[in-house]
Amino acid sequence: MSDSMQQSGGGGGGIVCVVGARPNFMKIAPLMSAFARMAPRLPMTLVHTGQHYDNAMNCQFFEELGIPRPDVDLEVGSGTHAVQTAEVMRRFEPALDAAAPRAVLVVGDVNSTLACALVAAKKGTPVIHVEAGLRSGDRTTPEEINRILTDQLSDLLFTTEESARANLLREGVDAHRIHFAGNVMIDTLRANLARAVPAAHTAERHGRPGFGSGPAGYAVLTLHRPSNVDRPDVLRTLIETCARLAERTPIFFPVHPRTRMMIESAGLAEIMMRTSFLPLPPQGYLEMLGLMEGARVVLTDSGGVQEETTALGTPCITLRDSTERPITVTEGTNTIAGRDPRSIFSAFDRALATGRDAGRVPRYWDGHASDRIVAAVLAWMETRKAAA
Ligand code: UD1
Repeated sequence: MSDSMQQSGGGGGGIVCVVGARPNFMKIAPLMSAFARMAPRLPMTLVHTGQHYDNAMNCQFFEELGIPRPDVDLEVGSGTHAVQTAEVMRRFEPALDAAAPRAVLVVGDVNSTLACALVAAKKGTPVIHVEAGLRSGDRTTPEEINRILTDQLSDLLFTTEESARANLLREGVDAHRIHFAGNVMIDTLRANLARAVPAAHTAERHGRPGFGSGPAGYAVLTLHRPSNVDRPDVLRTLIETCARLAERTPIFFPVHPRTRMMIESAGLAEIMMRTSFLPLPPQGYLEMLGLMEGARVVLTDSGGVQEETTALGTPCITLRDSTERPITVTEGTNTIAGRDPRSIFSAFDRALATGRDAGRVPRYWDGHASDRIVAAVLAWMETRKAAA
């Protein structure tokens, strides 16, 4: 980073970028690097809210993805939605005052995204939302609320797929604020694929050499949505269903901290011990990429994993009733299976039969979304300067 240019951590008139939780990190990495490359004189401030704080959920991503150290760490940690959101807002306000930026850039749909957008909008600081306009239609999930409200507060909205524009227009967002830029998460995927850690290394590192290397290949499971993991009966059914699948196809299972606590308190760990399951701590980005790339099928309730598997050509089974990323189904490799064991079994059979690369990679998921976004932000800043 040149000293005059990318003046991390200060100087008014720049951009404040916000990260908080794990899925934000792979979105901010290519944006920070595109800003540094395309606008080296623009002051950038990276604020980390501290929503995710464990090393496995946090620090290792900064190292692996080359994200600059945050200039400000708000250290909010966990809490109820109200407490976490309010605490981010309270602590973000002085950081925003100190940076006096021209805009605040937020990504995704986590509580930190909405909290910082709300503080900025109320202070009259323009908000840039990357990954705008995605809608599942399910307002019982916290992310859907965060998406709708963040988009209403935003001045510049960058979308990952074309369906997002229609969602935003329906909600009254001005068409001229919406830009179809592509998927920054896939920028990160393409930039790092050559460094992905093979599944065999991960198995060996966790004391199970050879796991998943037989002719049946392997599957990967991730679960962390409150609707799947917070109720012991729902979680038990999902784990039992996947244990049946693991009798045929060994399953790597990186376990989110929230899920680990629920598995322990509901006494579900021994179900996994009976079959070919490999529970793992939360994995780093490169390990997760290697697991997904080599899998015969991935079962998940994550949004990002639905997109990453589509980009990799790996079949994906989504353990939710809806998706906010419909292009992963219409063009990509994703099947929405919900939680019913029969529909999961049949989606699994279909995925194994269909095999890899059955979908196509959506438009602008080409590794250059961040460049398009930065170019549009710089043009927007020029227009505002001219109008001032
Ligand atoms: C959050 C996001 C979700 C995203 C997910 C990725 C919201 C509403 N949810 O969910 O959209 O898909 O991140 O992981 O913003 N915990 C730890 N260590 C950590 C972080 C969390 O142990 O570093 C535990 C805590 O007990 C915490 C629980 O996990 O209470 C849930 O964390 P939280 O940030 O509230 O939500 P996530 O489920 O991670």
